[in-house]
Order: sequence, then structure tokens, then C-alpha cells
Amino acid sequence: MSILPFTRPTLGDEEQQAVNEVLASGWLTTGPKVEALEQALADYIGGGVSVRLFNSATSALEATLIALNVGPGDEVILPAMSFTATANVVVRVGATPVFVDVNLVSRNLSVEQVKAAVTHRTRAVLPVHFAGLAVEMQPLYDLAERCRLIVIEDAAQAIGSKIDGRNIGAAGNPVCFSFHPNKNMTTIEGGAIASSDMRLLRRIERIRFHGIERDAQGNMDVPEWGGKMNLADVNAAIGLVQLSRLDAFNRRRRELAQAYIRLLPQHAALVIPMDQPGHSWHMLCICIDFAALGMSRNTFQQRLRKLGVGSGVHYPAMHLFSLYRSYGYGPGDFPEAERIGEQTLTLPLFPAMQDADVEQVCAAVSQLLSVEDAT
Ligand SMILES: Cc1ncc(COP(=O)(O)O)c(C=O)c1O
Repeated sequence: MSILPFTRPTLGDEEQQAVNEVLASGWLTTGPKVEALEQALADYIGGGVSVRLFNSATSALEATLIALNVGPGDEVILPAMSFTATANVVVRVGATPVFVDVNLVSRNLSVEQVKAAVTHRTRAVLPVHFAGLAVEMQPLYDLAERCRLIVIEDAAQAIGSKIDGRNIGAAGNPVCFSFHPNKNMTTIEGGAIASSDMRLLRRIERIRFHGIERDAQGNMDVPEWGGKMNLADVNAAIGLVQLSRLDAFNRRRRELAQAYIRLLPQHAALVIPMDQPGHSWHMLCICIDFAALGMSRNTFQQRLRKLGVGSGVHYPAMHLFSLYRSYGYGPGDFPEAERIGEQTLTLPLFPAMQDADVEQVCAAVSQLLSVEDAT
């Protein structure tokens, strides 16, 4: 039996052709395709921002924190529910991650939670638009202005998502995206930062590539440390095609997600994710009270697989990882993030799925939820 995966990138002849052209051009690494994709993304996002590409969102976030001089002695507030890269980059620059809880249904942090965590050491807030669902940003921007905090958005999962009709990334503050193969558009590996702060972007460019700066004559200097975080033209060429397809991908994701919301059973053990205008539906993550069902998540996943349905887990609560326990965090600190961590299950969602696939997944979930003796 073939298994429906929880995600699958949509790549076709156009992407293949774009790669072939770059290979034949003789210029493989960072060059004209990267420049073209940076411009195309800036045009797509809007708001007059500029974009710089990276080899991952992790690199983009790290370079952004370094360029903003976030480091030892600084606290950065972030949700306890995200992929671990969000917190790891804070550790990487020597700052202290300060977790806050999230909402069970949106999986996003709120301004109240952030407000309660602000101290005199807080330098930045790092909200995550979980699974493509936008965080309510205006209250956060207002708080940040009042408390003189930097807002760096982790939009790794949110390319093409909108807030109040405007694309995430268009507000002008630093916003980072991922183009990993699971994301709504891919460059295979890749990431980007959007910002309207040209001085910041110039420093970010330097940090992206060995700290190198060149004068008008092309003479090289290295005024500060930089890494090796640039994207290659081969990847950017794929990204240019993917970007042209992004809105169609996201429309299909929304249709499929809305079908899920209609077809998933009403069940006391099941929490269905929320929709809102502008949601790009990077993932469809439900919660199931596995303990109430008398079945482990692992068993549930194995049984789903036997019914032809793949699934994923996004994510364990970050503050419970060993690294973050060493900062003093432990069980009970963030009940909603911990509940999500224990109960979350990602169901298949990708643009090439058929309506019948959603029906199959919902029937499989319904079947497993109604199993009485499921141990
Ligand atoms: C919320 C979040 N932040 C950061 C990242 C890191 O992205 P990348 O794999 O491009 O480094 C991811 C990747 O899944 C993510 O989901």
C-alpha cells in the first residue's frame, strides 16, 4: 500500500529546466539568480522591504541577531512551542532565551504573555507564525515601541501568509523565512530576511559571507567576523519558479485545510486547528488526547500508517529539551506548549493532495478515535 506522506514538495519540469540552465551557465554559486530571487521576493512581500537570501532560515536568524548586537546579557522572548532552531539561534549568539506559553489552538504567543516576561534585560522578541498562522502583531509592535525592544519575526513557516491583508514581512522590521523542502515554497535548503533597514541589511550581507567588505575598486577588507551563509544560484533558480507558483500552492493548501476542518470528527479527545484569513496552512496540526484514548502517539501513528496515512510531530515543547532545562526550565512551566508537545500530530497537507486524500485521512482518524480497546 502506498503511504500518503505528511508533506511533499511540488517540483516539476520548470524547476528542472531552471536548474539545467544554471548548470549550463557555468555560474553555480551566489550570482544573478540570487539577486533576481531577492528582488522577486521583495516585490512579492511588498511594503518597500529588501530581501537577502541565506542558506537557511537558521542562518538568517543568526545573522540578524548578530547584526543587531544581541548577545551576552540580553534576553530574547520567544514561544516555548516552535522548531528548536528558534531558540538555538538565541543560544548561539550568547543571549538568554526566555520562553513564554502559547495558545492551544493557534499555537502562537500573545502580547500579554510577552508583556509579563519583559525585564530590564529584554532586547528582542522573536514571535513565530506557527504553521503559517499569523501572530497578532500590532499589539506586539506597540509593546516593543513602548519598551524599546526589537521584534524579529520567525516566519520560517509563513511565506505567503497575510496579516490584515498585508504579507508577513512587509512591516519593515526583520522577518526571516525558510525555504526548506517542507515549506510552502522551496529552494531545497534556503532562507531569507526581509527588512526595510538598509544599514542592517548591509551588515547582514557582511556577516553572511566571511565578514568581507569591498570598496569601489574591489579591494577587500574584513572589518568583523562573518560566516558562510550564502545561497547558491542553483537553489535560487528553483526558488524563482517556486515563488511564481506560491499563491496557487497556498490557495490549494487553504482548500485542503478547510476540507479537513469540515470533515474531521467532533470528538472530546480532538483539538482541530483554527483558520483565519491570510493563513497559508504550512501544516495541519491537530491535538489528540492520546492518554484519554488509552493509546500512545506512537501506536496511533503506526495504526494510521497501516491505513495508508503518514503523520509527523511538530513539535515537542522546546523548554523541556536538555539544553533548555539547563537554563532552569522544567515540566509545568508552560502547560499549553507541553500539552501540544504531548498531543500534537501533523496530518498530510501539501498542494498535490487530492480531495479524496483528505477524506481518506479523516476516515482513518475517525476510525482510530472510535477504537475502544486500542492498547
Ligand atoms: C519555526 C522555524 N524556525 C526556524 C526554522 C529553521 O529553518 P531552516 O531549516 O531553513 O534553517 C524552521 C524550520 O523548520 C522552523 O520551522
